[in-house]
Amino acid sequence: MCASRAGGLERVFRGTFIHSTPDAALQILEDALLGVDSVVGKIAFVGKGTELDALTQDFGFSPAEILHLGPHEFFMPGLVDTHIHAPQYSYAGTGLDMPLLEWLKTYTFPAESCFHDLDLARRVYTQVVRRTLKNGTTTACYFATIHTDASLLLCQITDVFGQRGLVGKVCMDRNDSLPRYSETSQESQAETCRFIEELLNKQYPLVKPVVTPRFALSCTGALLGQLGAIAKKNNLHIQSHISENPEEVKLVKELFPEAESYTDVYHRHNLLTDKTVMAHGCYLTDQELDLFHETGAALSHCPNSNISLRSGVLNVRNVLRHKVKLGLGTDVAGGYSSSMLDTMRRTLDVSKILGTLDPDYHSLTMEEVFRLATLGGSQALSMDQQIGNFEVGKDFDALRVNVKVPDGPVDLFQRDQPKVGDDWNIVEVFVAGRKVVPFSDPSNLAVQS
Ligand code: GUN
Ligand code: FE
Repeated sequence: MCASRAGGLERVFRGTFIHSTPDAALQILEDALLGVDSVVGKIAFVGKGTELDALTQDFGFSPAEILHLGPHEFFMPGLVDTHIHAPQYSYAGTGLDMPLLEWLKTYTFPAESCFHDLDLARRVYTQVVRRTLKNGTTTACYFATIHTDASLLLCQITDVFGQRGLVGKVCMDRNDSLPRYSETSQESQAETCRFIEELLNKQYPLVKPVVTPRFALSCTGALLGQLGAIAKKNNLHIQSHISENPEEVKLVKELFPEAESYTDVYHRHNLLTDKTVMAHGCYLTDQELDLFHETGAALSHCPNSNISLRSGVLNVRNVLRHKVKLGLGTDVAGGYSSSMLDTMRRTLDVSKILGTLDPDYHSLTMEEVFRLATLGGSQALSMDQQIGNFEVGKDFDALRVNVKVPDGPVDLFQRDQPKVGDDWNIVEVFVAGRKVVPFSDPSNLAVQS
């Protein structure tokens, strides 16, 4: 039994729990008892069914209050999407016929430029938060757009629906292809400060600001330096893109000739910290991965997007060998699916293809992919003290999964995660102990779709 005394009322579940630890990619706890302190939403104890008597005495609950999982059900940790563009949900699944830089000019910038319209923002942001929660994403690391008020609206919607969110107002003071979708560096800096201050004043318990230079090609060195200073002063998360596409890598070299590498562009502007998450990284060298490791910065692997935009392939084994923190991301709308189960499948598939091309390459196992989507994501966002698995003291962010077939626990897992499972297998979603799916009566919610 593993327990700490709780401060509030218990909600106690009994059944199968599946999660990862740093030592075990997959740990299956059969006939487990898990108690949630429903005042603070944290896991108060995890024990075995055989320890029922001691647990009821220690924690003062009655066996009649226990919620029993069905024989085809299990709990797993909530999925962590370490990279998703909320406004791009408006055109997800379309326009994947071009490589990255043309795709940005043709579809992305025109679409994002419309988000000064708060009605549009409210509609799209409500849809993306509802959809990702239903897909089991309990934590999402969002890019919004350059518009501060619409970015604050995304924070409000994330709070209302009860999703854990990291949200960034996008910064870009360089955009030749669509000058109206750009800011001066002074505006970008001032609006980033306003975004951070207003968001922190709202005191949404689960939503944090992220300093968000779009990528090196969208920002001058001056702006990158200002953003690095803002993040440092306020001890904030940082997110951006890196080494996604060969043309992008080439242009970054030309634009920042003084830098030793793409990674060095961010490093010399104080943007690589242990609270940084960079998307993609397909073309990073071993030296650059060493720099990620030394600074504690993380990568977000976005395989659907890498395939859909024909950007490249990330060698996940090599990233792990360099002990770089790694999570998974949908990268909507470069990735056409907002489901982390899809991201898990693509991660497996890409790794298997690498295995067919190189007999020495050890493809990832499904268990490893499960860990990347849960505990790995929490590490990549430097939140592994708070979320990522079912350790006592962590917040209860969890999915109740029903595979609707008779089987033992390992098969339960394999059937659902991630091979053939879908959002209809996710029957309940909890964030910080609060049930957020199925949604409560929408009339109780200030923001509606
Ligand atoms: N690089 C800069 N902006 C973007 C974006 O919106 N999506 C992707 N996939 N890459 C980017
Ligand atoms: Fe992206």
